[in-house]
Amino acid sequence: MANALITGGASGFGAEVARQLVRRGDRVVLLDVDDAGGRAVAGELGAEYLHCDVSDFDEVQATTAQAEELLGGLDLFFLNAGISTGCGVDEDFDLLKYRRAMGINLDGVVFGVHAALPVLRRRGGGSIVATASMAGLTATPFDPAYGANKHAVVGLVRALGPAFAPQGIRVNAFCPGFAETKIITDIKSTLQSSGVPIIPVDVAGRAVLQAFDSSETGQAFLLQAGREAMVYTFRGIPGPLTDDGEKAAPADPTGIPTGMAEPPPA
Ligand SMILES: NC(=O)c1ccc[n+]([C@@H]2O[C@H](COP(=O)([O-])OP(=O)(O)OC[C@H]3O[C@@H](n4cnc5c(N)ncnc54)[C@H](O)[C@@H]3O)[C@@H](O)[C@H]2O)c1
Repeated sequence: MANALITGGASGFGAEVARQLVRRGDRVVLLDVDDAGGRAVAGELGAEYLHCDVSDFDEVQATTAQAEELLGGLDLFFLNAGISTGCGVDEDFDLLKYRRAMGINLDGVVFGVHAALPVLRRRGGGSIVATASMAGLTATPFDPAYGANKHAVVGLVRALGPAFAPQGIRVNAFCPGFAETKIITDIKSTLQSSGVPIIPVDVAGRAVLQAFDSSETGQAFLLQAGREAMVYTFRGIPGPLTDDGEKAAPADPTGIPTGMAEPPPA
């Protein structure tokens, strides 16, 4: 039995992952800003709910400590709260909307990881899954700031995986395509009329549990409609050459990346 903290737990992926974890015997604390929704899901599951705006550093620290105390320790963190931006970066730019989206989608994950690490160390290890998106792996011209913060989450996770593996802490990103939650409400009819398949939320939930339970770390778990969740393979980058055109020495595994740390492009 594991103890889990879930951000964005009032709805969508967060609520579904909570249901699936509770069904298999795990205990859950839900964090959200939607108090009515969070309390309803917590009530349904016999779980705990705490109000927390993930873009507020102090609130994340305080509610993580509270959740740890409520359950007597935490093993799993699903850092999942997120929003679409609601503006572009041209004449449609809106500074408040931009800051809000970066604050929730990127700061929220960084603050969540910062709060989670000492908690997981006290348990001797554990697993963090951060919700990025397929938008963290591919271009999203319809919401460039979303694409930027989701790419940042993938970059963060790739850095954290190897950094915390020696402490028994695994960190992975969940990267789904369009899925059946509130976040796609405004674009659902367009997606449907364009023939874009939408991922059922229970399928997304199972993919998150797969990422939690996997021995992988520092990976992006890509989920596309109709396919099994898969670890996304990055292409790798060519290593540097010396002034003589020779390949430079491989990177020190503990040191500065030279581009040789990943396999060369196929
Ligand atoms: N549904 C999709 O198509 C899809 C695809 C890729 C990635 N995602 C990502 O999945 C994650 C979960 O979204 P969802 O699809 O379940 O949508 P959702 O809107 O159903 O759930 C998001 C939850 O986050 C909460 N939230 C918003 N701001 C918050 C804040 N400041 N602090 C705490 N909680 C906050 C909301 O109240 C809501 O309960 C997001 O990070 C989203 O970007 C969704």
